Amino acid sequence: MFNFGVMASGAGSNFQALLAQIEAKRLNAVCSFLIVNNKNCGAAQIAKAKDIPVYHISSVTHPDPLEYEQAFLDVLKKHEIDFLVLAGYMKKLTNSLLMHLKNRILNIHPSLLPKFGGQGFYGRRVHEAVIEANQAWSGATVHLVSGEYDNGLILGQSMVPVFINDTPDSLAARVLVAEHNLYWKTLRDYAASLGY
Ligand code: GRF
Repeated sequence: MFNFGVMASGAGSNFQALLAQIEAKRLNAVCSFLIVNNKNCGAAQIAKAKDIPVYHISSVTHPDPLEYEQAFLDVLKKHEIDFLVLAGYMKKLTNSLLMHLKNRILNIHPSLLPKFGGQGFYGRRVHEAVIEANQAWSGATVHLVSGEYDNGLILGQSMVPVFINDTPDSLAARVLVAEHNLYWKTLRDYAASLGY
């Protein structure tokens, strides 16, 4: 059994998929909190409906960079977690957060990294680039978070085919299903490898 916090700022489907695996007792873990960059995002609504504490931390709520950095550490002080799981969180993490949870922060990216990753490769842009490059395969990657975008040890990948008539939206939908199936298993296996 382990605890994790989630950071998200989008629709929250990966967050929801993780919670569903906990509820189905396939993932033996507790989700302790959600940090959002945008308080109206879908992920925040999901957390509220499940009574999971939500913290809104952004450069609007905390314009002072030191207070911004401290706000994350305050959440970590309040909730002891074993892992931090990024699920559609677009901002770079602060150095102190990275240091505090070294090798314990996971991210999911909607391509087969190292292909189609790095700055500028997010959301629809990833799938457009995969189609433009005539790739036969795309997929999802779960990796450890380092200081650079989409760079860090790869923990798990799942492939999906790219069809000739795919649009960025149809490909994104197929990859998202792969993400939902991949994230909880990779988190479970990585936690087990560290003795949880
Ligand atoms: C996913 O495609 C994930 O790979 C990327 O952001 C998206 C988040 O989607 N990092 P959702 O909010 O989990 O639905």
